[in-house]
Amino acid sequence: SMGDAISSTLLDWYDKHARALPWRSPPGEALPDDDAWPYRVWLSEVMLQQTTVAAVKPYFEKFTRIWPSVKDLATAPEHEVMAAWAGLGYYSRARNLVKCAREVARRGGFPKTEAELRELPGLGTYTAAAIAAIAFDSRAVVVDANVERVVSRLFNITDPLPASRKAIKEKAATVTPEDRSGDFAQAMMDLGSSICTSKSPRCLLCPLQVNCEGLRAGEPERLPVKPPK
Ligand code: ADE
Repeated sequence: SMGDAISSTLLDWYDKHARALPWRSPPGEALPDDDAWPYRVWLSEVMLQQTTVAAVKPYFEKFTRIWPSVKDLATAPEHEVMAAWAGLGYYSRARNLVKCAREVARRGGFPKTEAELRELPGLGTYTAAAIAAIAFDSRAVVVDANVERVVSRLFNITDPLPASRKAIKEKAATVTPEDRSGDFAQAMMDLGSSICTSKSPRCLLCPLQVNCEGLRAGEPERLPVKPPK
């Protein structure tokens, strides 16, 4: 199908161009089957919610040095975690981080399904899907702002956000593969941050240029359309 062609093209691109990041395994390799990895994926996704990769990296390194496992974080005094978080912003994330770590420790580890992950404090639709796909390699449709931009261009979705969100998720589902959905999600994020950028997308370098209906329509940089003021 068209969806398979798009996902395999993007995964081939990711195999060559994935950013090496401390919470990732090399492209195509599953994360080690080790409790530390769901913890690292969860921690990185919470940190990355409102913060750039560059800003997150040193905090991620610091947190995993001080608290190498979710059990370590679960037993940390909240004020120490708040102090280590200082500078990252959106401090409710840090309070939820401690709550969530304690709940995960109480359960004996991270749950593996998207539905159970959703029950954890502070985990929304996006984070639950990202952890299910990236940490547990189960198929989940992962849609953040980068993915919204890529998908709205790929399928030339010209209705404004937020009403277009449902259509974007449906289209994202049609291209998300059964296998490697975590790599696929991270490939969409890398494409969105390096090529399918908001103001001046580098369409000539894009592995999906022949598939891109937004490019064919002529003005991919106008997508996604923002809500009317
Ligand atoms: N932004 C949010 N999650 C990310 C990830 N896993 N890799 C790169 N950018 C991200």
